[in-house]
Amino acid sequence: MTDWEERYRKGDMPWEKGEAAPPLAELIERCGTQYFGEGPVLVPGCGLGHDVRALASHGLAVTGLDLAELAIEKAKAIQPTGAESYEVGNFFDPVWQDGRKFSAIWEHTCFCAIDPKDRATYARSAAEVLIPGGYLTGVFFLTPHDPGEEEAGPPFGAAPGEIESYFSEHFSLVDSWVPKRAYPGREGKEWIAIFRRK
Ligand SMILES: C[S@@+](CC[C@H](N)C(=O)[O-])C[C@H]1O[C@@H](n2cnc3c(N)ncnc32)[C@H](O)[C@@H]1O
Repeated sequence: MTDWEERYRKGDMPWEKGEAAPPLAELIERCGTQYFGEGPVLVPGCGLGHDVRALASHGLAVTGLDLAELAIEKAKAIQPTGAESYEVGNFFDPVWQDGRKFSAIWEHTCFCAIDPKDRATYARSAAEVLIPGGYLTGVFFLTPHDPGEEEAGPPFGAAPGEIESYFSEHFSLVDSWVPKRAYPGREGKEWIAIFRRK
C-alpha cells in the first residue's frame, strides 16, 4: 500500500506538474462549467491543489481533499484563486462523508492511484456525497498493459468499459472522449468521462 505522506515528504511525486491538468482546461473550453453544477465541487486526492484552484477561478466553491497532511499543507500555502478550501481526510471514510453533499466531483489521478480493489468503494463514495443529478467528471488513466499480467502501480490504468462498469450502478455516462491536451508523456493515455448521478 502506498504511503502517500512519505512520498510527499521525500519529494517522490512524479505526478506533480506544477499546473492544473490540461484535460480540465480542454473540458471547460468545450463545455464551460455545466458539468460542475452550482457547487460545491469536491476534488478527492487533490495533492497540491492545482485543479482545485483552476476550478475556483471559474467562480465555483471547491473543496480539495487529500489523505496526506503535507499535500494539504503545501496546497494551502499557494495563493488562492477564489472560494477554495482544503481538508485532510479519506474519501472512503463514512465519517468524513457524513452529511456532505456536492454538485460535482472532479477526478484526476485519484482513481488510478488507489488499489484497484478499492474502485467499487470509490464509486460508492462518489455516489454517497453527490446530489441526485450531480456529476462525476474526470480524466481517467487508460491501460497500456497486457490483461492477465499483474500491473505494477500506482498509477493503475483501466480500459473505458472497465471504468464505466464500476460506476454504472449509480451513474449514467453522459459523454466521453480522449483529450487532445495532456501533460507531456500522457498524450493518448487519458479518457475524459462525464458521469451523472442517477
Ligand atoms: C497520484 S497523486 C495525485 C495528486 C493530484 N491529483 C495531482 O494530480 O497532482 C494521488 C493523491 O491521492 C491521494 N489519495 C489517495 N487515496 C486517497 C483517499 N482514499 N482519500 C483522499 N486522498 C487520497 C494521495 O495522498 C495523493 O495525494
